[in-house]
Amino acid sequence: MDFSQIEQLDKRYHAETYAYFPVAFTGGKNATLIGTDGKEYIDFGAGIATNIFGVNDESWKAAVIEQLGRVQHVSNYYYAEPQSRLAELLCTKSGAKRVFFANSGAEANECAFKAARKYSAMKYGEGRAKIVSLKGSFHGRTLFTLTATGQDAFHRWFGPFVPEVGYAEANMEDLRRVADQKTCAVVIECVQGESGVNALPRQFVTALEAFCKERDILLICDEVQSGNGRTGKLYAYEHYGISPDIVTTAKGLGGGLPIGACLFFEKTEHVLQAGDHGSTFGGNPVCCAGAVNVVSRLTDEFLLEVQGKADYMRAKLKGFDGVTQVTGLGLMIGLGVKKNSKEIAAECLKRGLLVLTAHERVRIVPPLTITKTEMDEGLSILKEVLK
Ligand SMILES: Cc1ncc(COP(=O)(O)O)c(C=O)c1O
Repeated sequence: MDFSQIEQLDKRYHAETYAYFPVAFTGGKNATLIGTDGKEYIDFGAGIATNIFGVNDESWKAAVIEQLGRVQHVSNYYYAEPQSRLAELLCTKSGAKRVFFANSGAEANECAFKAARKYSAMKYGEGRAKIVSLKGSFHGRTLFTLTATGQDAFHRWFGPFVPEVGYAEANMEDLRRVADQKTCAVVIECVQGESGVNALPRQFVTALEAFCKERDILLICDEVQSGNGRTGKLYAYEHYGISPDIVTTAKGLGGGLPIGACLFFEKTEHVLQAGDHGSTFGGNPVCCAGAVNVVSRLTDEFLLEVQGKADYMRAKLKGFDGVTQVTGLGLMIGLGVKKNSKEIAAECLKRGLLVLTAHERVRIVPPLTITKTEMDEGLSILKEVLK
């Protein structure tokens, strides 16, 4: 099909939930995609921080195809080797005790919120079910995670919402006001992706950890976007030296296949028991085989390379005309810009570069394997557009 045929079909039959850019892709390699028009595009978006190794990565593909040739799905009535191996790998690397597998970031967060409520109900009885999130946060589109998303724009039309959710500014004064006696958990993104790629202040995060520990309020780190090596560490919370009770992740974990994970640390290890939670596709063997490949390749050496690439891109971006600020951590980059971010993204696309936006910022979250040539090509397009 050529592009106009795809576009026509989609406009006629697909739900109208997405405002697409006028392009579709047929293939590519690493951080270079090929459009239906045969044109090459440098990818600074990685399918929204998802294609950790870009497209067509040989080792990842081989792992996925190998599992596809065995068995594609078994359900959670039975054991599955890729799932058990991935759970072990995640626990060994992170220090978590157990993992629940979901299909997306929102579902990983749903699991975390449910576990937090059960932890509290078992220990303290009813009436301590409040989840506190931060203003500007994004935690997903299911009703519970949408409720916990601290941005009013997402709430329009969809009430009534899940009760016992509160929102605090990222400072201890406001947090103390909102996180009252009825609170069982506080959820944070160490780098808020959707609202502008803002890293939380270090002082706040460490004070929050101490506050939560004192009151036995669970600290949940949503690493859906910032996890899996994106910031130069396995998880962004490691930059802050904190120990969360639950960590959720998704996006990059599968390298481009749908999988989410909820990691339980010491306090929460045994909270969820048989029958409490589940998912038909959660822990799907093909997705887990892809994720085993991803996580096992996120070595210290690889993460150092990510940090090096991030330093390189950030230094260049800081010198560009039209850039007011470079935010975020590692290869999760926000650009404060003088022009309209959506118009910048559209103009970049015309010139062969894919970038994302986050409110008024340009968001750059390339494959972690992006080469110097690809970075340079993309940066030179961006430089021209930003001028
Ligand atoms: C921090 C964060 N949490 C949760 C989600 C929801 O993930 P998903 O779209 O996989 O449900 C996202 C998605 O962008 C995210 O950035």
